[in-house]
Amino acid sequence: MSTSELDLQIIESYLKTSLIGRSAANELWPEIDSTNSQAIKLAKAKAPSGTIVLARKQTAGRGRQGRTWQSPVDAGIYASFLLRPTCQKEDLPVYTLALGVAASQAILSVTGIEIGLKWVNDLVAGGKKLGGILAEMVGNDSPPALILGIGINIELDAKDLPEELSNHVEWLGHLTNSPINCNHLIAELALQLEELSNCINSGDKQSVLNAWRKHSVTLGREVQVISSAGNKEGTALDINENGALIVETGDGERLTLYAGEISIRNLDGSYS
Ligand code: BTN
Repeated sequence: MSTSELDLQIIESYLKTSLIGRSAANELWPEIDSTNSQAIKLAKAKAPSGTIVLARKQTAGRGRQGRTWQSPVDAGIYASFLLRPTCQKEDLPVYTLALGVAASQAILSVTGIEIGLKWVNDLVAGGKKLGGILAEMVGNDSPPALILGIGINIELDAKDLPEELSNHVEWLGHLTNSPINCNHLIAELALQLEELSNCINSGDKQSVLNAWRKHSVTLGREVQVISSAGNKEGTALDINENGALIVETGDGERLTLYAGEISIRNLDGSYS
């Protein structure tokens, strides 16, 4: 089922925010290397907090850990939010979690589809990846500029997916027969992010952490922690005040993960 074409004016007509998306510096590109890279340029040029960069296609979309984010034209939402958070520095990582929560709330509100959050920042449905978040800090400004980039799969063609990905990737158009209004979805994402951002800036990061816990598909599960020093298995117990994941291994060791990669154990004992 097809989607609506992105249009800044239409997004604006849906906006209920006071900051995010209200910047005159918002951009929508038919094609760009990466919306995050462009938002970094805008941040260095002093664009205001709340600026959004969107693209219909990315030619060098970036994922976490140096990976590429495949970004064919109109197959997904490719968006970067430039924020200048006024919270404590140590609370900045909570913003990554906030964008995940904002995305799940916005997707539910606009499409009726419930998705889950896999630590640290994957959007998942039925165990498959539906989207991802790439957070980047820019320079030493005070307050610092934070770029929160998100890719959400909207309409993929199963036959275009490499075989090794097809069992691991999901998209919204596959989960509903109704058209997906991407303009509305972006405006709703901006609203949810603004509300969560206001919580963090006013010292109430607990609301964000609790909302993340509610949407989590990681907590309480057997996980494999993937690291260059070797993989470890354990139970994902909780996230701490800074959004780090606490994992307890079989021999009672408690690991605190600030970044990195985990896999979740499936019923058949495999990890994905
Ligand atoms: C991940 O690896 O899961 C994170 C993927 C983040 C992709 C988005 S698409 C919009 C923004 N621009 C980029 O180059 N990357 C992010």
